[in-house]
Amino acid sequence: MSQDLDPAPILEVATGFWASKVLLTAVELDLFSALAEKPKTAAELGAALGLHPRGTYDFFDALVALGFLEREGDGADGRYRNTPETSAFLVKQSPAYIGGLPEMLNSRIFGFWNHLGEALRTGQPQNETKGGGPSIFDVLYSDPERLGEFLHAMSGAQSGNFAALAEKFDFSRYRTVTDVGGSLALLSCVVAERHPHLHFQSFDLPPVGPHAQKAIDAAGLGDRIQVVSGDFFSDPLPKADVVTMGNVLHDWNLENKLHLIRSAYDALPDGGALVAIENIIDDARRENAFGLLMSLNMLIEFGDAFDYTAADFRRWGTEVGFQRFEVIPLAGPSSAVVAYK
Ligand SMILES: C[S@@+](CC[C@H](N)C(=O)[O-])C[C@H]1O[C@@H](n2cnc3c(N)ncnc32)[C@H](O)[C@@H]1O
Repeated sequence: MSQDLDPAPILEVATGFWASKVLLTAVELDLFSALAEKPKTAAELGAALGLHPRGTYDFFDALVALGFLEREGDGADGRYRNTPETSAFLVKQSPAYIGGLPEMLNSRIFGFWNHLGEALRTGQPQNETKGGGPSIFDVLYSDPERLGEFLHAMSGAQSGNFAALAEKFDFSRYRTVTDVGGSLALLSCVVAERHPHLHFQSFDLPPVGPHAQKAIDAAGLGDRIQVVSGDFFSDPLPKADVVTMGNVLHDWNLENKLHLIRSAYDALPDGGALVAIENIIDDARRENAFGLLMSLNMLIEFGDAFDYTAADFRRWGTEVGFQRFEVIPLAGPSSAVVAYK
């Protein structure tokens, strides 16, 4: 065996779920909110969270070593506090809270990924729809609590991308935007704050409407963002200069993707733009590990749904009639792919 070979990367990924589960459990326990007011000793934090003493130091110090907590002092006198990032993004009272995504990863997705092998062998979803029955959206949306959790999880995944899109895409040429699968209208709110000349329609299934309206009212943007309820497989999309789809195309198989791209084309004027905001996989399918893992997550959630490359998007867009294409890198592994009519 070569002395140069290092097994560390194999072991790091093999045990990666340990670190993941420590963070997800901290969010489940709402540990970061418990530290929002002031730093706490292990005994104080353990008591606040109702934990047995055996695990407290290992759990809290693992969070320190992973970079999600800071600790001043050692042992019983050591005091734990949030990092600037966990304070901003994982304290529930923070306006930038993104814990909805870790909450859903913990309560739903973690268990489903235990059946990745079965998904790979069968091509079938491994979530609540395993074995047939209604679609995942019907399942989640029939239960108000799970609907709320799902919608907040979506927002957590996309807030950085929508802020980057508001900066990087040239909205100055356009007046109206339809956000398809708009969920809690986060894209509309973020882009509206940055571009006061724009008006929005946030289009989603009827059960989502009241949740979106609440978020729009809270942002004070009711005069510029309209909630439109409908089904994008049976209704035309509201017409606009720009149609956005955040993490929508990857939820569907090729036939449904093409239907959505065609509906967007029909909703746009000449010169209008379809903007898809996703974890776009690099064309060579070698680098964007997160995009590829997301596509496996779509296998787990939907079976035949998949993430895609910019080259795939360009091919489908050309088939539908779009003239020109652009890729705009956003936060981390995400990009916007743009098709101009
Ligand atoms: C993965 S979420 C993405 C939400 C948001 N755009 C984002 O980027 O975070 C997909 C959205 O599509 C919506 N959706 C699913 N099926 C739909 C349909 N048939 N008609 C309209 N919206 C639908 C869901 O309700 C959900 O809000």
